[in-house]
Amino acid sequence: MLSELRPYWDFNAFTQRPGHLTWALSKIAHLNEAQLWALDNDVEQQAHYFAGNFPTLFEWQAQCEPALVTTQLPSIPFWLHTDIPGRKWQQIQGFCAATTQNAHANSSASAIEWCAGKGHLGRLHTWLCAQPVISIEWQNSLCLQGQQYANKLKLPQQFINADIHKLPLSATTAQGTIQCATQAPHWMALHACGELHCHFLHTATQHKASTIALAPCCYHRQQATHYQALCTAAQATALPASLNLQALRLAQQNQITAGNREREQRANELNWRLGYEALRQTLQPGTPYKNLPSKQKQSHDNFEQFCQWAAPKHQVNLPATIDWPAFEAQGQQERLQMMRHDAIRHCFRRPLELWLALDKAVFLEEQGYSVSLQQFCANHISPRNLLLLANRDINAANSPLSKPYPLFK
Ligand SMILES: C[S@@+](CC[C@H](N)C(=O)[O-])C[C@H]1O[C@@H](n2cnc3c(N)ncnc32)[C@H](O)[C@@H]1O
Repeated sequence: MLSELRPYWDFNAFTQRPGHLTWALSKIAHLNEAQLWALDNDVEQQAHYFAGNFPTLFEWQAQCEPALVTTQLPSIPFWLHTDIPGRKWQQIQGFCAATTQNAHANSSASAIEWCAGKGHLGRLHTWLCAQPVISIEWQNSLCLQGQQYANKLKLPQQFINADIHKLPLSATTAQGTIQCATQAPHWMALHACGELHCHFLHTATQHKASTIALAPCCYHRQQATHYQALCTAAQATALPASLNLQALRLAQQNQITAGNREREQRANELNWRLGYEALRQTLQPGTPYKNLPSKQKQSHDNFEQFCQWAAPKHQVNLPATIDWPAFEAQGQQERLQMMRHDAIRHCFRRPLELWLALDKAVFLEEQGYSVSLQQFCANHISPRNLLLLANRDINAANSPLSKPYPLFK
């Protein structure tokens, strides 16, 4: 389905206005900016406008959207999370509520927390399960802060400052040398990006982890130009060859958690970029779109300043008299058109993300795991709310995929 409908999602709405979308665009031509925002974050509205044209897409999504599973955690003392921002804390509680029952079964040995950041997840895990946690993180400053917090609370959480690509990992601490990635039964990763989470699944399964818990994010963060499917079933399809970095970015393009100010800033930048491009086209007619680097930290006070920053990058000589308000207004119109095009592309965001999750789920099944896929928090807490849970089935170790996957509600 995704391959067949590829012309409706595989384009860049900033630079391309494909003609075959006209019929779909006409359905939302009357919507204003606020209504387009609302449409962007509401699958029922998307279905209302576009289901007539993509019936299989919306039917599939309605059937396959994993259930949001909520389990009550015991009450948690405030001192455990004073440094954790609100939404991150809610994500961590949801993740632990879904995973700690599994991990309990193996409470004597350590758990591994992959790409740990400050190890907030590992901290709650160790407190809930009384299970030591080894938190692996690349940035030393995050390790130091996380370790300091764990020491203060006397929790058995040990940070290893290392690159996860360089296993086996070890660290020398006051207690001696810690070796990790050997016997840990429970492996967890919250919002490990792109190839880091793929590497996580390969490593955890190679080390025969008993339980694996993964909430993936930032699918486009990888070296390769296209997605490298993990499971043999997906490798045999044509879709991975279509999943370039732009498509992988689409799977997570969502501003639902962005505040009004962030949205306004983003909208303003797009207005200026599109307005500048209209001006550049006027001065250099018939030339293809030219890329602009992302803006430096120092921002520009107005559209004119922005264009003066951009023009030399394209060898554009700005004439002395330019109708700045007219080009800025044109940029705004272009952005609304872009939003309309994206309204169509964005119908495919979640299906693409689910496909990426299913690839990993089936890979785990191929490695002899029983797998479930669920949401561990609501979309407005984090749109990256898919959680893969895998238990190693000792009777079926290394068995090929033998049954339909028991993944959905
Ligand atoms: C999106 S953050 C997630 C942090 C944490 N799990 C959370 O949910 O708050 C990803 C983390 O992976 C770390 N990271 C990136 N590349 C890494 C590598 N090669 N080895 C270990 N950690 C890495 C980053 O420094 C960052 O802290």
